[in-house]
Amino acid sequence: MFVCLCKSVSDHEIRAAVDNGVHSFEEMQERLEVSTVCGACTCEVKQILKKRLNKEVSTKTFSSNIDVNLATSGLA
Ligand code: FES
Repeated sequence: MFVCLCKSVSDHEIRAAVDNGVHSFEEMQERLEVSTVCGACTCEVKQILKKRLNKEVSTKTFSSNIDVNLATSGLA
């Protein structure tokens, strides 16, 4: 689904950008040029970015907990 019609950027591309190192709205604007014309997509871009970053943090936390549990259990 297109989120930014002015630059033809989809929600998939926004999530992929986060997965490839974009961690702020400003970085997203630089990378994909979203929200640089009319600005109508700004809220949706920020929501997708925030959700993806939260998912990334919880995944890393989960992985980190597994590493700690494996290390303390002697399985690592
Ligand atoms: S819809 Fe994104 S800048 Fe216009």
